Amino acid sequence: MLVGWNPASVPNLYGKVAVITGANSGIGYETTRKLAENGAEVYMVVRNMDKGRAAVEQLRKELGPVKLHLLQADMESMSQVQSLLAELRGVRPDILLHNAGILYPGPFRLTEEGLEPTLAISYYSGVLLALGLLDQMKPRSRVIFMASAGEWPMSRLEGSFFNMRGDKFTASGARAYGQAKAFGKGSGYFGPNLLNMWHATERQPGTKQARNPFWCWRVYEETVKILSEIVGSKAMPPVPRHPDPARDAMMEKKSPPSEIDKGRAVHATATAA
Ligand SMILES: NC(=O)c1ccc[n+]([C@@H]2O[C@H](COP(=O)([O-])OP(=O)(O)OC[C@H]3O[C@@H](n4cnc5c(N)ncnc54)[C@H](OP(=O)(O)O)[C@@H]3O)[C@@H](O)[C@H]2O)c1
Repeated sequence: MLVGWNPASVPNLYGKVAVITGANSGIGYETTRKLAENGAEVYMVVRNMDKGRAAVEQLRKELGPVKLHLLQADMESMSQVQSLLAELRGVRPDILLHNAGILYPGPFRLTEEGLEPTLAISYYSGVLLALGLLDQMKPRSRVIFMASAGEWPMSRLEGSFFNMRGDKFTASGARAYGQAKAFGKGSGYFGPNLLNMWHATERQPGTKQARNPFWCWRVYEETVKILSEIVGSKAMPPVPRHPDPARDAMMEKKSPPSEIDKGRAVHATATAA
């Protein structure tokens, strides 16, 4: 059923180091197994150590003496991500897979740091982890965010710049999940081609936003701003200006502002009401 890539395509990974979040179950567990089976050393990040230990035990039972390490962090907490980064100091990953994610974290609430939990887990924690590991990662390393085709029907990027923290949602679930998965990825998928279906091709160019460097830059700027507010600007890298001098003109006139402006318009209407 798979056209092109399949799990047998994964090469020998001896000497490679991977960090995987949400590694104790589901896709994170299966990915850990495949990487470890092929010789990689895997740092498994879990939020529940009992579940993590059970996963490691099961993997060792199946695969023998594989190179696994267990680290604990609740990815809805940016301060726990910072502690995780401290534990990972000295580790030089070839692969970072931010897989931890959740569709429905329960009734609407905000984390102690003021983020909607779906966004905090699927998006902000992954960005903070990636930025914190950037200088340690080996040349030609890969940072992978687990996407979801669910972003396409679920996300409404109109107004997302106005709701970066997700605090304007009235419920957790599909909308927040869609936004978390859409930020900066925008349907730009890689993966096996399942029966040549339209949404499962080996490579997709991504949505209009994902192909627009100014939109991506704006998402990055806003993200770093929010993370700086939470963890302090010293912990964050400076955001370089976009190298294209036409950026500001583009930001004001072309397609991304239509989303931004719609969001502002919604905000203005809500405020007026
Ligand atoms: N399954 C699908 O059809 C599908 C489709 C598209 C995309 N995805 C994406 O693929 C990824 C994995 O999904 P899955 O289906 O394998 O789900 P899963 O079996 O529920 O695994 C999710 C993993 O994330 C962990 N996690 C959840 N909240 C966390 C938190 N606050 N801190 C740290 N870890 C946390 C979970 O830990 P616990 O075991 O402790 O809960 C679990 O290990 C997600 O990002 C999901 O959005 C899945």
